[in-house]
Amino acid sequence: MNKKNIILILCLVCGMAVATTVSAQGKLVLREDNIEEIINAMTTEEKVSLLVGGPGNLVPGVAGYTREIERLGIPMTVLADGPAGLRIQPKREGTDQTFYCTGFPTSTLLASSWDPELVETVTTAMGNEVLEYGVDVLLAPGMNLHRNPLCGRNFEYYSEDPLLSGKMAAAYVRGIQKNGVGTSVKHFAANNQEINRLENDARVSNRALRELYLKNFEIAVKEGKPWTVMSSYNKLNGEYTQQKQGLLTTVLRDEWGFDGIVMTDWGCKENTVKATKAGNDLMEWGNQVEIDRILAAVNSGEISQEELDRNVSNMLNYIVKTPHFRHYNYSNKPDLKAHAAVARKAAEESIIMLKNEGETLPLNGDEKVALYGIASVDFVGIGTGSGWVNTEHIANIQEAMTKAGFALDENLAEYYRLCYAIQSATEKMNGNSIDKRHRPEPTVAVQAIERQAANNDVAVFVLGRVAGEGADRVVPEDFELSAIEREMLQNISMSFHKLGKKVVMVLNVVGVVETASWRNLVDAIILPWAPGQEGAYAVSNVLCGKVNPSGKLPMTFPINYMDIPSSKNFPYTWDMTQGRRGNRKNVDFTDYTEDIWVGYRYFQTKNVEVSYPFGYGMSYTKFAYSKPNVKVDKDGFTATITVKNTGKVAGREVVELYVAAPAGGLEKPARELKAFAKTKLLAPGESETLTMKVTAYDLASFNEEHSAWETAAGTYQVLFGASVTDIRCTATCKMKAQFWEVHDVLGMPVALP
Ligand code: BGC
Repeated sequence: MNKKNIILILCLVCGMAVATTVSAQGKLVLREDNIEEIINAMTTEEKVSLLVGGPGNLVPGVAGYTREIERLGIPMTVLADGPAGLRIQPKREGTDQTFYCTGFPTSTLLASSWDPELVETVTTAMGNEVLEYGVDVLLAPGMNLHRNPLCGRNFEYYSEDPLLSGKMAAAYVRGIQKNGVGTSVKHFAANNQEINRLENDARVSNRALRELYLKNFEIAVKEGKPWTVMSSYNKLNGEYTQQKQGLLTTVLRDEWGFDGIVMTDWGCKENTVKATKAGNDLMEWGNQVEIDRILAAVNSGEISQEELDRNVSNMLNYIVKTPHFRHYNYSNKPDLKAHAAVARKAAEESIIMLKNEGETLPLNGDEKVALYGIASVDFVGIGTGSGWVNTEHIANIQEAMTKAGFALDENLAEYYRLCYAIQSATEKMNGNSIDKRHRPEPTVAVQAIERQAANNDVAVFVLGRVAGEGADRVVPEDFELSAIEREMLQNISMSFHKLGKKVVMVLNVVGVVETASWRNLVDAIILPWAPGQEGAYAVSNVLCGKVNPSGKLPMTFPINYMDIPSSKNFPYTWDMTQGRRGNRKNVDFTDYTEDIWVGYRYFQTKNVEVSYPFGYGMSYTKFAYSKPNVKVDKDGFTATITVKNTGKVAGREVVELYVAAPAGGLEKPARELKAFAKTKLLAPGESETLTMKVTAYDLASFNEEHSAWETAAGTYQVLFGASVTDIRCTATCKMKAQFWEVHDVLGMPVALP
């Protein structure tokens, strides 16, 4: 049987419409196995049009399209945003049908699960919505590192650590792509701030790039095999990433084996020709200027026929994988109810408990609760910008706790509903939307709080923070509490504690906030981040103990903002008056002077005290770690450790494997995360043996002088921790020296005068 017939039968078996492999008129049309023939049959204009995105109206509200070439059976394909779910318009003209999508937990919460399998389950459901709403590629996952907590898009990203980030992104990609639709890992690379994101030049050493800012992409590309990669807006060491051949071709394709397409982030830069030659296959969202530029360059020979055909071939290889090429008959009716259940479970498995003094939590569930904070009604499910998802409803904590049977102080609940209604009406009347991080926290008079303390059993305060694309967060009243929030917290703490009653804080925040100055005012802290449309139910289930929290921090919580090394060169505000355009420090260019000393790599090595360390998170139960076993093999080592639930309730534990390298050679962080594993739900007394594999390559550091990865010879300490500071047991292993040379193509960071 020939390949054409096999495809035909497969399509029929799968219940799909039959792929158009040969047109009715017997004309040449695109098939999986005739890409070269198609390229030979294409005119130069047709080839160029395939490299530039275009308009379309197949699915309202998507981010962009690739262009159709009808003559050759090349369909238009559809690209829409993520990462917390599919972003399309929920209502369409001429129909009452709605097209809502599920708002899943945001990436930072997913990373807090430390559970790639969970992430894959989430994105398997998410990818089904992509497929069933007629979209070919989800423009996600976002996976820039949390270099600094003020980056406005951190909620779309995973972690300060490249291994955790890379593993999460790879799982994300696998889940989506299982559905026969694609992903676009973004923003490649070093897009770590929103201020002047279109022009900022990230000046980063090769070592920091290789070990941190590219490492997570390397893992995602090698282990996830995404169909597409999105280059970023910014420059990297003086060149726009979309025009950086060393990055897009040498590193991404030649070194890592990427075989999909690279598309630009959404805008048109000056040098389209350079981008095309560099290996940026697709310009998005695409316009005529870009077509004209590429065409002129092909005609003048500046872009060679080989370069043009290489990019066209990449595009066609992508297109033949898409649902639109398969004529997939999408339903527009994904199972939103089932996906809501997935979203809730994912939030439950990821929520972090930071504090639980005197076993304040779990509550019994029948307490009278004084629920404070405007975020208790104006709940932050997702961040803003292209990462926003049009869900039908985002549950808030007030409604979730009520449904769960908690007896809320009704007067207080009514007060917050009214405050929210007034704030929303004011916004509407003024025709502007108040950015929630600046939305004033309504005050409650001390006398009223005292009454509430007398009439209720416990206080729960929900602190909200929102941010998103296009702007970074700020320190006052955002990273830090506002004066009103602080005063409220003090009054609540004083009034409830006076009567021997507890105070619980819920951090419904899109990014890290300062905690050290106020955490003594509360007895327990729950951190659900922005947990998606169902997250409030998950919070409520954690509060009443139906769910035992098992999330751990994917980044460090510092004591002060200025403790973070990159705070010295991260912009606070985009002040247009600072210097002349093109030469403003931290705006037009950012020197990554902290180099590899990001997050726990810095705090742990330099012994700087933190508020909560990387990898930290509490449980309602306790776990004992057995003596570990580390076995060296020809490829690295394999570690096993048995974890036993020694407490009274069922729970899950994340074991974090850190490695301390032998002294000598390159200066290295005191310890680095090299593997992790999470147990299943262990009943009290139950154990599970976890296995973690670390290769010699995983242990390597990057030596700029030789442009090589080097694994130093010697004895490595293998540390098994419940967090980066809470090391429960250790082992050692001896490794031989190994080297992997790579290309020196990323450029040097240039210091401007
Ligand atoms: C964002 C991308 C997004 C694209 C399409 C850009 O502004 O940076 O993350 O995928 O828009 O909406």
